[in-house]
Amino acid sequence: MGLLEGKRGVVFGVANQRSIAWAVADLAAQHGATIAIGVQNERMAETAAKLIEGRSGFQLVQVDLNDDEQLTACAETLKRQFGALDFAVHSVAYALREDLAGRFIETSREGFKVALETSAYTFVAMAKALEEIFAEDASVITMTYLGSQRVLPGYNVMGVAKAALEAATRYLAHDLGDRGIRVNAVSPGPINTVAARGIRGFTQILDVVSQRTPLKRPAEQAEVANTSLYLLSDLSRGVTGQTIYVDSGYSVMGL
Ligand SMILES: NC(=O)c1ccc[n+]([C@@H]2O[C@H](COP(=O)([O-])OP(=O)(O)OC[C@H]3O[C@@H](n4cnc5c(N)ncnc54)[C@H](O)[C@@H]3O)[C@@H](O)[C@H]2O)c1
Repeated sequence: MGLLEGKRGVVFGVANQRSIAWAVADLAAQHGATIAIGVQNERMAETAAKLIEGRSGFQLVQVDLNDDEQLTACAETLKRQFGALDFAVHSVAYALREDLAGRFIETSREGFKVALETSAYTFVAMAKALEEIFAEDASVITMTYLGSQRVLPGYNVMGVAKAALEAATRYLAHDLGDRGIRVNAVSPGPINTVAARGIRGFTQILDVVSQRTPLKRPAEQAEVANTSLYLLSDLSRGVTGQTIYVDSGYSVMGL
């Protein structure tokens, strides 16, 4: 029997097969969940449609999380189709390319706003839009990165956005906790995806991590999905407001 048997959830942030969101959605479906895949635009909807072709228990919902009207419409669609939601996955981030290289101090006002709005505020907006349809004991997760706590040259404004995202996780855990709803963040190590390739020096980060992690290799997408599954399932009841690292142990190293 699957760990998410009979549960209904939404997973935002599938761009393609390499997306962390896809690994989570795929595993959640294998564990019995019925899932709405949230895609940002038409192009990604076409890609996601191919990923779920011939698979039961999936449907697509197109929504730009920076657009409140689209988000409201998405919540209404999910309410109509699922009634209530047992889980939600936020695996979404974006920053202007020029802000993911060079000196953090050069970040423009607009670049700061774009990164924080898309990579942190959308998590709050998503939780607010779905609050009414979350089942009692629902589980909500987001994806963060070590750049929130440490300086990784090039990660820059995205590190600041991830720090806001982790703080938002704790505040949302407090707000929603009285209904038994849990809110946690997963912090993967570097994984080769579209978002990661936008960071200048990403390959170098991957090399360094591979050499210095206790496990001597980067964590894999499938391992991030496994920890996400744990957080989405009843196995993690009692766990909320946390950031859990799936990074082959890199975050414990001092050098
Ligand atoms: N890949 C890594 O090394 C790594 C490491 C740690 C954390 N993360 C985090 O994991 C999450 C997923 O990234 P990924 O690596 O799978 O890359 P990805 O490019 O596959 O996924 C990012 C997703 O964000 C979505 N998105 C961006 N702006 C959006 C908006 N306005 N509305 C709706 N969706 C929007 C994109 O459509 C895309 O699907 C991100 O939060 C990222 O920061 C990634």
